[in-house]
Amino acid sequence: MAAAYRICFVCLGNICRSPTAEAILRRRLVQAGLHQAIEVESAGTGSWHVGHPPDERAGEEGRRRGIVLSGTARQFERDDFERVDLVLAMDRDNHSALQRLAPHRGAASKVRLLLEFSPSADGPLDVPDPYYGGADGFAHTFEVIDSAMDGLLEFVSSELDRG
Ligand code: 4NP
Repeated sequence: MAAAYRICFVCLGNICRSPTAEAILRRRLVQAGLHQAIEVESAGTGSWHVGHPPDERAGEEGRRRGIVLSGTARQFERDDFERVDLVLAMDRDNHSALQRLAPHRGAASKVRLLLEFSPSADGPLDVPDPYYGGADGFAHTFEVIDSAMDGLLEFVSSELDRG
């Protein structure tokens, strides 16, 4: 069955935050029985880490919580807007970069901030970039990403219902 809906998480390097979000959502979709209807992927706005696996520290944080990070970093491309239904930026810099890349208004309107779906969305809407910090940063980042998943699942379920 072809997926009815595609989501792409986007951060800067595609080695820390977006592969974490991808792995968390994938597990949630399996638990909700929605994994065949909704496809998840991730990408970066930058090209420095293209071809690299997820950062070992992000992988370790996932393992601690029973989640396996997978995939190979790639850069988000203009053509990706045609394939995906929802592009979830990890922070406002990623969001701006995606808006600049969008070829038309319909594409730009697919871009949202992940933390719009978090109940603490009246706080800062940036998932902190853990790359230059220590292990604590990776634990915090994981929790911030996880906080948006209930709201995101509710949103995509309603999008699927709308057809
Ligand atoms: P990510 O983290 O955007 O969450 O994958 C980063 C990875 C690499 C760099 C910055 C952030 N970097 O500057 O190389």
